[in-house]
Parts: sequence; structure tokens; C-alpha cells
Amino acid sequence: MSTPFDLVIRNALVATASDSFHTDIGISQGRIVQLGKQLNRGIEEINAEGRVVTPGGVDAHCHLDEITSGPVRMADDFNTGTRAAVCGGTTTLIPFAAQQRGQSLRTAVEEYRQRAHGQAHVDYAFHLIVTDPTPEVLEHELPELIAEGFTSFKIYMTYDDMKLNDGQILDVLSVAKQHGALAMLHAENADCIQWLTRKLLAAGNTAPSFHASSRPMLVEREATHRAIALAELIDTPILIVHVSGKEAIEQIRWARALGLQVFAETCPQYLFLTAEDLGTDNSYHGARCVCSPPPRDTANQEIVWNGISDGLFTVFSSDHAPFRMDGTQGKRPDGREVSFDRIPNGVPGLETRMALLYSAGVLEGRISLQRFVELTATNPAKTYGLHPRKGTIAIGSDADLVIWDEGLRTLRNDDLHHNVDYTPYEGMQLRAWPGLTLSKGLVLWRDGQFQPHPGHGSLLACGPSSLIPTQRQA
Ligand code: URP
Ligand code: ZN
Ligand code: ZN
Repeated sequence: MSTPFDLVIRNALVATASDSFHTDIGISQGRIVQLGKQLNRGIEEINAEGRVVTPGGVDAHCHLDEITSGPVRMADDFNTGTRAAVCGGTTTLIPFAAQQRGQSLRTAVEEYRQRAHGQAHVDYAFHLIVTDPTPEVLEHELPELIAEGFTSFKIYMTYDDMKLNDGQILDVLSVAKQHGALAMLHAENADCIQWLTRKLLAAGNTAPSFHASSRPMLVEREATHRAIALAELIDTPILIVHVSGKEAIEQIRWARALGLQVFAETCPQYLFLTAEDLGTDNSYHGARCVCSPPPRDTANQEIVWNGISDGLFTVFSSDHAPFRMDGTQGKRPDGREVSFDRIPNGVPGLETRMALLYSAGVLEGRISLQRFVELTATNPAKTYGLHPRKGTIAIGSDADLVIWDEGLRTLRNDDLHHNVDYTPYEGMQLRAWPGLTLSKGLVLWRDGQFQPHPGHGSLLACGPSSLIPTQRQA
């Protein structure tokens, strides 16, 4: 008799980025080893009859246990963040290893490696955040780290303690080109934001709602255009992160029409929130939804949906940035209500990303199941050099899978597993939620129960982006 599989998932309706098909899935040693009907027995078997099975999500933009200034601390570390991810159907995360000014990039990576070690329930990789591109960083550290599998880095065009000027951006882009890495740009014009903030505060406009007024869409449009121009000058691909609406999208479409390789990411907050969620009065409640760029309006939500459905967006990420409303380390630093410019930026979203897009995208008829898989798993894995190990259902790939339960449910923070005390999507009606999440062959979430395995996840080395056909070397 032939050796049984460790696990067989029977009668799955598998959806990949290109197909849907009925199959059994044979899994051994954490990998998919056979696909086909009536496979041999497994030591364990799961019947997925009548249910959709997709690749586990790859969340290519989330913040966990990042070092922040003053009293502020992120609420999720690599344990609670990956726990939330699993319960929401995400099985690979790419958070950030952020360099602090004056710090070596190598030291930053080692610090984040330590923070994650033994904590994560599922696999993860790191993007780098470059805030201090010294000659040592540009000539030695970055090239060496890229060769070791840290093949993407985020560049900030805003935030005083992180932003690079145009010359520095050109330097970093030029290293990306030379060594086959991908730069991700946070595109907002820092000087305009600073100027507007000064005016708003001087007029006594301090409430969270003024966060949106301090970062109108033109500051995103201008920086998006500038990022594209800088990348064109260097002749290297870039990815614009957390695109919020029409004017940035127009810049990206314009660049694509010129034949430039400009990839784009959007996030749930630009589909499901508007600036009104920052509050229309002086209440501090809107601090929950303070993130940058800010959510826009319903017309922009529709334009972002168009980019989701027509292929403009390459990846759909959470940009999970976990800060609590209660206590002294989150949205109320030192326990105080602060002016909008001092509210920690970001919203939680690791656990809700997949179900929100599955519900409002696939089950409400806006996108196909294939496009859903492409945006949430396959493209993020390809973009950051993790495919085909991650992001698909194929022989040889890691057995990272989600079996979906369809049916109406109301989203409640009480049901979530992050360490944040709110979700910006409280009360929303969902049409589906992961019924089972498998990571490298191990069931970590089933029928509403999380089965913790800290240390099951390990650090992945990323290869070059497979979305970029020819990374030209200098
Ligand atoms: O407001 C946001 N998006 N906070 C997270 C940090 C970032 O810029 O992605
Ligand atoms: Zn950003
Ligand atoms: Zn972010």
C-alpha cells in the first residue's frame, strides 16, 4: 500500500489566480504534493465539499512591533499580529524592519529578527525602511541585505523622522536598480502637509477630522507624480503603497500609458471608510480612523473599486498599524487627546482584509474569485519574490490554504484576535469568513477556534520580484 498523505482535503473547489477547479489536495510535510480526484487516503482528512478553497493570504504591508517615538507603542507584536492574520485567512506577512536615523540598517534588521523570532504563528518576511541612506548603507548594507533576501524597501516622502529628500530617493532607487530590488513609495508631499498643519493649528482646528484637511489629495497626487518621475530618471520599477483615490490613480495610469513599470497597492480603508469617519465635529472618536493618506469620499471609493476590478492595483494589503484607543500608548499618547497631527497614524486591518474583499468584492459581484486571489495572495507573493512557494495552490507550494464559510455575519471587534480595542469596520455586514486556515499543513484556525503555534512561522528570504520581467543591472 502507498504511503498515506499527512492530510487530504477532499472535494475542494480550488480557486487560483487563473482557474477554479474541483480537486482533492494531498499534503505531506507542509507542502502540497498532489492535486486530483480520489486521492489516496490521508492520516487526517478534511471534507471541503461545496466550499471554496483559496491560497492563504499574503499581506504585503503591515506594521508589527515597530519602534515608535515618545510613549506610543504598537499594540500587536509578531505573536498577536500573526494570530489575527491566521484567524482572518492570512498565512504570510511582510511587515517592516525600520531603520532609525543614525542606526545601521543591519542593526535594525537584527533587532526585528529578534523581535519576531519564535513568536510568529505563520511565515513572514521583512521589507526594509530606509530612513538614513548613508554611503555605508548605500554601498554596503543595502546590497548585502538584498543578496540575503531583503529585496524590497519602503521610502517615505513624508513624516519628519523618516522622510527622504529627492536626492536621497534617487540614491536609494539607484541601489534598487543595480541590485534588483523593489522600492515602495509612501507618496505625500511633506512640506505641503506641514504648511497646512501649521495654518490649521493656528486657527484652533485641532480635532481628528482636520487630519484629512491637512493631507488633501493634491499632496498625494504631487508626490505620486514626483515618485514616478524619480523612478523614470533612474529607469527602475516602483510600487506606490496605500493609494487612496482618483488623483493618485490618474498619475499611475498616466505612467503606465508611458510604459513605465509603476505598481500600485490599495487597502481596505480606501474602499470602506471616508473622511467622515474621522468625525464631523470636535469629538475624538475619529482618531480611530486617522491614517495616511486619509480616507477620501464615496466617489473616490468607487474609483478605487474600479482600479481593483480593472487591474490597476497590483496588491491589496491591510497596512495594519495597530494603536489602541484606550490606555496611554496608542491614539491617546500619555492618556491625552492630542491635536490631529500628533495622533499615531494607522488603522488595524490584518484580520479583516480578506473577508472584506471576499464579501464586498467577490460575493457582491464586483470582482471574480480569480482577481480576489490575485490581489490578496498571488500578486503579493510574486511582487516580493515569494512565489510559487507562497500565494498559490500548486504542487510544491507550501500548504497555506483557506476554506471559506459563506453566510451573513456582523463584524465585531470582540470576535477579532488582534490586540487592538477597536476595528474601524465595527458593525459591517460580511458575507463570508475563513472557516479553516492551514499554514504549512497545520490547521491553525477552525470553526472559530485558534490553535496557537508560536514559532511555527519562520523568516523567509525573498527573491527578486517576478512581476518585473527584466531587472536591468547597471
Ligand atoms: O497611516 C498609516 N498608513 N500608518 C502606517 C504607516 C504608513 O505610512 O504606512
Ligand atoms: Zn506609508
Ligand atoms: Zn504602512
